Parts: sequence; structure tokens; C-alpha cells
Amino acid sequence: MKSGTEKPTARSESEFLAVLGRQPRISLAELECLFDDVRLVAPYLASFRLLPNSPSFRAKDGSTIPDIRRLGGSLKLARPLNISPLDFLRSLPAKGKITLGVSDFSHGAKSFVAEKEALRLKKALARAGRAVRVIPNKKSAVLSTATTLHNRLYTGRGVELIKHNQAFYRVIAVQDIDAYTARDQTRPARDAKVGMLPPKLAQILINLCGNCPAGSVLLDPFCGTGVVLQEGALMGYSLQGSDLDARMIRYTRQNLRWLSEKQINYNRQNPLDNIGEKQLKSGFQEVEESGHFEDNEGTKKSSVAAKMPPHTSIVAQNAEKVNSKNKWGDDLLNLASATEVQRLENWVREGDARSFQWRQPIGLVACETYLGPPMSQPPAEIKLKETKQECKGIILGFLRNLAAQIQPQTPVAIAVPAWLRPDQGYERLNILDDIRNLGYNVKSFKNLEQADLLYHRERQVVAREIIVLRKE
Ligand SMILES: C[S@@+](CC[C@H](N)C(=O)[O-])C[C@H]1O[C@@H](n2cnc3c(N)ncnc32)[C@H](O)[C@@H]1O
Repeated sequence: MKSGTEKPTARSESEFLAVLGRQPRISLAELECLFDDVRLVAPYLASFRLLPNSPSFRAKDGSTIPDIRRLGGSLKLARPLNISPLDFLRSLPAKGKITLGVSDFSHGAKSFVAEKEALRLKKALARAGRAVRVIPNKKSAVLSTATTLHNRLYTGRGVELIKHNQAFYRVIAVQDIDAYTARDQTRPARDAKVGMLPPKLAQILINLCGNCPAGSVLLDPFCGTGVVLQEGALMGYSLQGSDLDARMIRYTRQNLRWLSEKQINYNRQNPLDNIGEKQLKSGFQEVEESGHFEDNEGTKKSSVAAKMPPHTSIVAQNAEKVNSKNKWGDDLLNLASATEVQRLENWVREGDARSFQWRQPIGLVACETYLGPPMSQPPAEIKLKETKQECKGIILGFLRNLAAQIQPQTPVAIAVPAWLRPDQGYERLNILDDIRNLGYNVKSFKNLEQADLLYHRERQVVAREIIVLRKE
């Protein structure tokens, strides 16, 4: 677009754009499982449409928009501008200064070109008597999630325009990185030895099970410290967890109780009053940090985060209507009810995933399985062979046991280990055929291959391969 008056091609009201995360194909897989007509439009951009049961809410203007709080893999959401950027900016409420940033996703876009676009708009608006503060692009043509979030460039007179070739979009929501950090780092029971699943990845695993009805029972048979269950509760699922290690069961209970108390403090009620303290207290003070897996994606401890409630909404239209009293209220946080918390003893239990009998019904299964021992160096050949064998036995034993207890078509999303080799490639378990032989279909995706579903940070020794299944 050269001038502020040229009109971009009109696009449908129902189209949305997602800015994809660090591993864009994994973000894309998540979108494919929740939305319609998902297409990769640039390496870090995907377009999609809502399905009737996609995670969404009604915005202030009456339109239905996707709920970014439930998407672990999308950094920002945007809508196409069907008028020129200048006309759009002119249409904003007349009072007060506009804060404007531009992210340019066009191939080879340079930071100064993105900023020039913002400055051009600022100049044109100045002629019409509107004041604009431009957010500098610094070193990148794309503004970071933190810049968008902390400058509130998704609401009111805060505007981030996304440019891709000739098309412009307006950002409508941004991922609340501070809330993820707080959920990850301020929960009371953490244990680096079992691996610390980033909350975003836990959300992705749950979402890979598709749009399951609210209240469906989410099972994590390797629940560890409970990250999947914690995220599942926040997404409105009922929960069931088990783990071989009694200490992990205590940690999960401690973390879930903490989470529900956070909500309750916000609601200024105390439905936990009736719960026997003795029942809930055992082992709650134990915290172990032995630091082998260092995998807290993008979650640096910040003083801001430490002060924040662990789940603070950032969706613009909603955030504005929320007052401090209902920040954790039902419309923002579908935490499984206090009644669920009271049934804690029943739904988180000690047991071996290869033989445990879970409570029925089971609506969806999402977990990070046993990943083998923590490693800081690529393992020697013999150690790798031994570890692979051990993990394969546990994972296939679990899937065999599970197949006998779930209904056909029940979705199952698992993260299994893969190990860094000295040649910097990853050694996978290669268990897809074994899994099919147990009576599962392995999901195939439109926009990506199974090989893309490897979640890791650079040079991370134990990576996670994601596998999405449905019982036949
Ligand atoms: C990688 S950790 C999962 C961590 C978890 N996602 C969390 O949020 O902390 C794997 C867990 O599997 C458990 N485990 C190992 N073998 C098991 C088995 N046969 N049955 C059930 N749990 C098992 C371990 O105790 C450990 O807590």
C-alpha cells in the first residue's frame, strides 16, 4: 500500500490472523485442531476462521473473537483491516493520543521500513490534528510480544498494525506472557528433575485434543507437578491425574489447591472452607529444585510477574470491562469449580500408568510421559539404547492400558522424549507403528509433518516429540 487512501482488498469479517510462536509449525498444529480453514500465509503468520465450538468470546462490539488466553502457540491475534490504515486510525475516538506500532511480516522486511510506515501515518494524522506516539521498531520489523502487551497496542487508542505484503491487519489480542510466567514460577511445588513443562506447551497438548466440551474430564496419567492439570482447569475441564510417584501426587495437589485459592482470593469468597485441612495439607511444603531440565520457555522471573495473580487476562475487549473484583470471575477463568477441588483426593491418585484403572468417563488425555533420566550431554550410544528401551516400554504399556479404558475416538496428545545426538540431530523413539498396532490412529495435519512436531530449545538434550492420536 503506497498511500493512506488506497483500499486493501476486502476480506471476510470472519477471518483472523495469528502470529505464531517460536516453533511455528507446532503453533499451526494447535490452530488446526481448534479452528477452520487454517493456512500458513508467511513463516510466522497463519489465517483461520472460527468454528461454532472454537475457543472464543463475545467482544464489546458484539463480534465473536478467538480467546487467546487458551492458545499456547499464538503470540498475537489480528483482524484484517477492510479500510486503509489511515482511515482506520482516523476512525478512532477523537479524544487523546494514539499509540501506534507497525510490524511488517513481508519477506525481507527491515525494521526501518516498518517504522517509516508508522511515521508516515503519524504525519498524515498530524495534518488532521491527531497526535500519535510511534513505538520504535528498534532492531526488528516485528514488535515483540512484550512491546505489544506493555504498550497495550491492542485496545482503544493503542494500535499495532500488522503488514504483510499489501495487506494490513489490526492486532486485537496478545499473549499474556506475564501471566504464563507467574503461573509457571510462582506455583508452590516445582521439581526440575521431572522436567518442567512450560504452561504454554501444556495448553498446546490439551488443544491438540480438539474442541472438547467444557467440563469434559482431562486425564494426565504422568501428572508430575500438575502443569497439564493446572492449565486444563483454567480451560474449563474437569480433571483426573495419576503418577507413579507419591511425592508428585502431593505436588500436584498442592499446586491445584494454590491455583484454586488464587481464584478464590480474587472472588473474595472462600468455598474451600468445608475442605478438611488435614486432607489437603500433607506434603504441601516440600519443594525440590535439582535443576536438570532447564526448559521454561520464555519465562524469566520478573518482579512484575511475582506480584501478579497467575492468570490475568489481556484480551483487550474483555480486560476493559473487568474490574478488580471479577478478574478471576467466571467469564475470564473457567477454573473447575470448588466442588472439583473438594474431590481432590479422588481425582489425583498414585498409580502406574501401565496398569492403573482410571475413573470413567475420560474425555481427553494429554500428558508429558516419562522422559527418561535428566541429561546435560548427548548420551553415549549404550545409555541411549537403554533409555529408549525403558521409555518405550513405559509409553507403550501405558497406551495399551489406556486403549482398554477409553471410548473410540477419544483424543490423546502425548509428549514423548527425543534425544540430542552428537551430530546435533535428534534420536526419536520411532514408536508410531507400535502405537497403531495398539488400535490408535495417528493424526495427520494439513500444514505440517510429524517431523515438525519436535519441541525443543537450541541444544536441549532431552526434547519432546508430540504425537496426537485417537483411539480407533
Ligand atoms: C516428565 S514427568 C511429567 C512432568 C509433568 N508434566 C509436570 O507438569 O510436572 C514424567 C512423570 O512420569 C512419572 N512416571 C514415570 N513412570 C511412570 C509410570 N510407569 N506410571 C505413571 N507415572 C510414571 C514420573 O514420576 C514423573 O512425574
